[in-house]
Amino acid sequence: MSVEEELKEVKDLCEQCQNCPLGATRTNIVFSAGVPNSKLMLIGEAPGYYEDQQGEPFVGKAGQLLDKIFASVGLSRQENVYICNTLKCRPPNNRDPLPEEKEACRAFLDAQLEILKPRIILLCGKVALTSMLNTTSGITKVRGKWFEGPYGSRMMPIYHPSYLLRNDSTEKGSPKWQMWQDIKEVKRVYDEL
Ligand code: URA
Repeated sequence: MSVEEELKEVKDLCEQCQNCPLGATRTNIVFSAGVPNSKLMLIGEAPGYYEDQQGEPFVGKAGQLLDKIFASVGLSRQENVYICNTLKCRPPNNRDPLPEEKEACRAFLDAQLEILKPRIILLCGKVALTSMLNTTSGITKVRGKWFEGPYGSRMMPIYHPSYLLRNDSTEKGSPKWQMWQDIKEVKRVYDEL
């Protein structure tokens, strides 16, 4: 079976999923976007309103900023990035995912990781960070650092674009400036692999 066929099987299961109460309130599952590329995968938090409506991750304002961040180093979801979320269904009113929702959804993320075996995993925001790394450190402490990930991958926590939308400054040391350093480092390693 090809990678695409394996992912399709998991997505079909996800579409039937009622493992937590979010199954009853979702409009669509939001499984992934981008290219099933084994080099670079980004894990976000959970679908918001627009993602739930369209069935695609990162299509709202935060997603547009994310696309710009990737574009600044010549990457895009059309060509070389696979994007998914920790939760595949939208929590009502965009509240933070509950531990039991993360637990119920985990098998889908694990399957995506196992099928794709990405070389680089970007943990976008604190929900992805705490799902993938056993740490009590906040994102500001660990962003931009490399950690060992599954299947021999390297993982880097990065800021969530919605945090950057709330922090306008681009001055040296600001969150946007830090993101710029981080994405350049990601591209440097990406080009080496
Ligand atoms: N924020 C996320 O973490 N994921 C999305 O898909 C959209 C917004």
